This record gives sequence, C-alpha cells and structure tokens, in this order.
Amino acid sequence: MQQSDVRPQSMERITSKALAERFIEEQVEALRKQVGDSKVLLALSGGVDSSVVAALLIKAIGKNLVCVHVNHGLLRKGEPEQVVKVFRDEMGAELIYVDAVDRFLDKLAGVSDPEQKRHIIGKEFIDVFAEEATKLKGIKFLAQGTIYPDILESKDGIKAHHNVGGLPPELNFELVEPVKLLYKDEVREVGVALGLPAGMVYRQPFPGPGLGVRCTGAITRDRLEAVRESDAILREEFAKNGLEGKVWQYFTIVPDYKSTGIKDGKRSYEWPVIIRAVNTRDAVTATVPALSFELLQHITARITSEVKGVNRVLLDLSPKPTGTIEWE
Ligand code: XMP
Repeated sequence: MQQSDVRPQSMERITSKALAERFIEEQVEALRKQVGDSKVLLALSGGVDSSVVAALLIKAIGKNLVCVHVNHGLLRKGEPEQVVKVFRDEMGAELIYVDAVDRFLDKLAGVSDPEQKRHIIGKEFIDVFAEEATKLKGIKFLAQGTIYPDILESKDGIKAHHNVGGLPPELNFELVEPVKLLYKDEVREVGVALGLPAGMVYRQPFPGPGLGVRCTGAITRDRLEAVRESDAILREEFAKNGLEGKVWQYFTIVPDYKSTGIKDGKRSYEWPVIIRAVNTRDAVTATVPALSFELLQHITARITSEVKGVNRVLLDLSPKPTGTIEWE
C-alpha cells in the first residue's frame, strides 16, 4: 500500500515518545503489508533520515532489509565506523559496506570546478549503488529517507526529492518511504524512540558531497585529511563547551593555497584552516554567532599543533548572504 504524498490535516505532530511509538507501530504494520516477504534495499548514509528508515525497517522486516553503506572517502571522522557499529553490530542489520574511497578520489583527482566535483560525486554514488543493487538480483523494493520538506520543495520545483534519483530504469524499484510525511523534528523523535544514538539523531546537516565541498579546488588526500582532522577537533571542542545543539552548523574548510609561517623555529609553508559556524532556521539565510575568543584561541592552538600541514586558523565572519554556508 502506497501512502499519498499529502499530509492529512488530521495528522498529529509527533512531539512525544508516546506519539513516536504509535507512529512506529503503525508503520511497522504498513511496511510488512507493503513488502511482505520480499527484500528491501536501502542506501544508508548514516544521516538522520536514512538511519531512521533503516531502524524502522529492521524492526519491521529484520534481515529482509539490505543496507548498502558507500564510503566515498568524504565522510567525517568516525562516521563509516559508527554506521557499521550501530547497524551491523548492535541492531543486527544485513549491511553491505562498500569501500569506494579510491574510486571516488581517483575520479576527483585534478578536478577543481565545484559543480563538476558535485556532479562526479553524485554520479559515482549512483554507479556504485546500482552495481551493488545489480549484484544482489531480484530486489523489488527500494527504501528512501524522503521527508515531507523534500516533497514540498520538489512540488515547488526547488529540488528533486529522490535521494537515489537517477538509478538505471531497468532496476525498476518500487519505493518504500515510511517517513515521507514527517518533518525533521518528528523524524528525530521517531529515531530516539527506535533507540538510535543521540549523536546520530541530532547530528548537524551534512551535504551529500561531504567533505569534498570543504576541501576547495582539486581534492588531494593529504588536504582532505586536514579537513577531516580539523573538523573532528572543532566538533569535539564545541561539544565539550556546550555548543552542540546550540550552534546550527559548524565545520572547517581547507582551501587550496598555502602561506608562510613558523613551526619549531623553522619556516613553514602550509595551509590555513577556516572555521565556519552559522545559525539559521531554514538554511536560506544565516547569521554568524559570537563565539568565545578564548575557545577560538584554544581551537587554533589544537588545530595548528595536531593537524598535519596547517599553520594558521581563520574565522569566517560572513553571514548568508553574502556567503553561502558551504564554500563550494
Ligand atoms: P549553502 O551552502 O547552499 O547550504 O548555503 C545550505 C545548507 O545545505 C547544505 N548543503 C547540501 N546538502 N547536498 C545536501 O544534502 C548538497 O549538495 C548540499 N550543499 C549544501 C549545507 O551544508 C547547508 O546546511
């Protein structure tokens, strides 16, 4: 049974554990009815929406859900490991982990145009996923973490909502979209009720092209590592200092140019790390929050001493507009 794409007026907003549990019960039943004994495929990125869909389907159909996690090398530190730990080890999911790091980074080597980078990442993702789907054979259903704002935005022509849109038509999947009538806060409520870790349910937005748009210009492995390591330090320090969940999105960028500095009494010629932290309601406009200068100094000291190849830390003070949130 396919749900309609319109949220009924009578549908109560899921704001409590009890309401989340009722939704889970209803969906588990609806999912079992829709897919029967068939297998369902899901591209599991580790983001909130696909994680909640995975947890719902594991509850409904167990091993008949086949999750594919594609590591494209542009994920944050610890993310692929967390997906495997939570879904395979703790929830007992059937999870195919695809290490596609070399494949993506080889395709991206030398490509400096931001739109071309995004295009390569998107296309390669579809290719890798389609290859896995073809290997599995005979799977009729594809689950997706479509949520209600995706449907509304695709109606308004703002963006195409199918997360894995562009799959070869011969795969011919029937879609399973159990959270498509929910808003983000409701998806989170359901995720908590399903027992997903808070770090997964309340994580900040993360773009599909991942760290690739934060390693500006042509991506190199060493500079990508500097993005990943500096991002991990920033996240750790924001969490320690009570800013997690208070600042909407924060991350680091490592541009593809160097400057002169001094390290261990010697001249260094290394990259800067740029800190980006913003607050917003809807990501259409954004402001830059005031941050403790002491904390910024501490983060600077950590990044310049712990991250290889970095000798400066800068802070992006630009609201959106004129800056976008991401740098590419
Ligand atoms: P911008 O840079 O346009 O970002 O101000 C607005 C919000 O969208 C996120 N973002 C993306 N999310 N795929 C995504 O799923 C993308 O290609 C993408 N680009 C930007 C960005 O992180 C911010 O939250």
